[in-house]
Amino acid sequence: MSTRTAAVVAGLGTCLPAAEFDNTSLAAGLDTTDEWIRTRTGIAARRRVAPEVSMRDLACEAAANALSSARLETAGGLILATTTPDRPCPAAAPEIAQRLGLGQIPAFDISAVCSGFLCATAAATGMIAAGITDSVLVVAAETYSRIVDPTDRSTAVIFGDGAGAVLLRRGSATEQGALLAFDLGSDGSGKDLIHIPGEAEQPDEQRWFSMAGRKVYLRAVEQMTASALQVMKDCAWTPETVDALVPHQANARIIQAVADRLGVPPERAVCALSRVGNTASASIPLALAEALATGQLNSGARTVLTAFGGGLAWASAALTWPQLTAVTSEI
Ligand code: UT7
Repeated sequence: MSTRTAAVVAGLGTCLPAAEFDNTSLAAGLDTTDEWIRTRTGIAARRRVAPEVSMRDLACEAAANALSSARLETAGGLILATTTPDRPCPAAAPEIAQRLGLGQIPAFDISAVCSGFLCATAAATGMIAAGITDSVLVVAAETYSRIVDPTDRSTAVIFGDGAGAVLLRRGSATEQGALLAFDLGSDGSGKDLIHIPGEAEQPDEQRWFSMAGRKVYLRAVEQMTASALQVMKDCAWTPETVDALVPHQANARIIQAVADRLGVPPERAVCALSRVGNTASASIPLALAEALATGQLNSGARTVLTAFGGGLAWASAALTWPQLTAVTSEI
């Protein structure tokens, strides 16, 4: 058995806004229905932050929860994935590290939209492998309620706010929790399929988030299937031996289509968006915590994570799930 160094998942934390908005409460102001949203997306409700709560507040809570899940008080680095920074400059990660009392550690943000959590996990794994640090907090936090057009039924009903984080530490590839394989990719020709115009592109108007839903849907199924397959191959895992498939939580139909194409039994595909919606980069750690709570994910499970989104960018990772208790909170 290999004893090579690996980054190991040692803690999982999440934080959700307390306020929940069900489909009916949104449908009133939009040309949509609870039935359309449920049947086309699997979403019944989503969380939204109160005006005084920032993305950084969500990120801090989730990161503190991940540290406490790992029974640690400190980390050697912090990477924040977000598409919804409270301020365009500077990156928020240094402030989060400072608020958590982590000292002057390496801390920076990455922007990879819905693939942000897995891209940040890959970057953190690289930092640990390179000997830059022994542990990294990987945090994903989003406040999409602040960038979606409240009058656009094709996005307003889909996205929600939330945050999740993992603590990665240096360990060995034979341990439970070791990240065993990654697959990352991008295709900039699809840059306009999910975007917010820049000020120079659209100077005088309110600039909202937009998504070409159908095109993204088709590409998401194709790309998450191919990418997940790649990490399964790298681990010599066949679809029937995968215990938990945890895709980005954009749409229940996409999740089932990916499981179907991969040949992973449908009950092993984690679909945890019903009460939180699409939380972009935060969706995978939130889904992991939900799957732990429901017993769908257990220690020793051969687990495949896969994400796709704006950029276009995609990423997958494979690990055996470790023994840990997720720490969750609301704000
Ligand atoms: O997280 C980053 C990656 N994002 C994704 O992976 C999301 C991918 N896309 C999706 O999940 C789906 O495409 C949506 C949920 C966004 C849309 O579902 P769809 O089944 O692909 O619908 P569609 O875009 O093909 O639209 C079908 C119809 C359209 O009306 P017409 O043109 O046929 O008259 C839409 O205008 O549904 C209409 N529609 C709605 N109707 C009622 C779109 N949104 C709504 C709505 N309520 N909320």
